Amino acid sequence: MAVVFLTGASSGLGAALAPLLAADGDVLILAARREAPLRALTERICAAGGQAEAVVLDVGDRAAVFAAIQAAEARHGAVETLILNAGISRPTPASGFDGARVEQIIRTNVLGAAYCVEAALPAMRARGKGHIVGISSLAGYRGLPGSAAYSASKAALTNLLESLRVELQGTGVDVSVICPGFIKTPLTDTNTFKMPFLMETADGAAAIYAAIRARRRHAAFPWQLASLARLGRVLPHGLYDRIFKGRRLDKHGGGRG
Ligand SMILES: NC(=O)c1ccc[n+]([C@@H]2O[C@H](COP(=O)([O-])OP(=O)(O)OC[C@H]3O[C@@H](n4cnc5c(N)ncnc54)[C@H](OP(=O)(O)O)[C@@H]3O)[C@@H](O)[C@H]2O)c1
Repeated sequence: MAVVFLTGASSGLGAALAPLLAADGDVLILAARREAPLRALTERICAAGGQAEAVVLDVGDRAAVFAAIQAAEARHGAVETLILNAGISRPTPASGFDGARVEQIIRTNVLGAAYCVEAALPAMRARGKGHIVGISSLAGYRGLPGSAAYSASKAALTNLLESLRVELQGTGVDVSVICPGFIKTPLTDTNTFKMPFLMETADGAAAIYAAIRARRRHAAFPWQLASLARLGRVLPHGLYDRIFKGRRLDKHGGGRG
């Protein structure tokens, strides 16, 4: 029985992943800003015989992150699995480039993850046991037009966690970076552009669950889009620019944030 701290549990992938983890007997601390969907999820998990509690938390608030993880550890013992899933996506096109919006995305997707690691890692190291899982994205493999901040945030999250993974070898603390493509959730629901190889939420959550249980260092899916993204990484800059010329991945209503 492990204590799992899962951020971004109130909807989408986090809400679909939680029952899968709970079915294994893990104790779940489910964090997000919206209380009502968190409570509904914890009730559903507990009614099915699992153990879960809701924590209202904005991961962009460093002091609140510390308080939430300390409180969880006081109640249940050290966090063994930290799943950094909270994230937002908003368009950040070159036209009217909005630094405040960039800050909001980086604060949630990157700093929020860093604060959680800062709070949970010392106890993991002291016990010689832990697993940090980042839900990054194929969007972080290379800069995407119209989506500069989201793309940058996921590249930052991936590299931040990779640096930690390499450094933590031999300490008993594993680090996994999971890079999904497009999955049907509230985050992508407002996208009006074509999302290739779009997956259902349950399939995306199942792929994430499998990668967590296998303690994969890096997992990317679906394989078709992951292969294209890997190819995109090695394309010469000129060719990359020509492929994306005139395209923008920001033709959507903005998502939540
Ligand atoms: N869907 C995709 O295609 C896709 C692809 C690749 C990666 N991802 C990543 O997967 C993760 C989950 O996204 P999703 O698709 O499931 O979207 P979602 O349904 O919008 O879920 C995002 C979750 O993050 C939480 N959140 C947002 N800002 C937060 C904050 N400041 N503090 C705490 N929680 C916060 C939201 O809860 P509250 O609003 O209640 O705070 C919500 O529970 C994200 O990191 C996303 O970037 C998604």
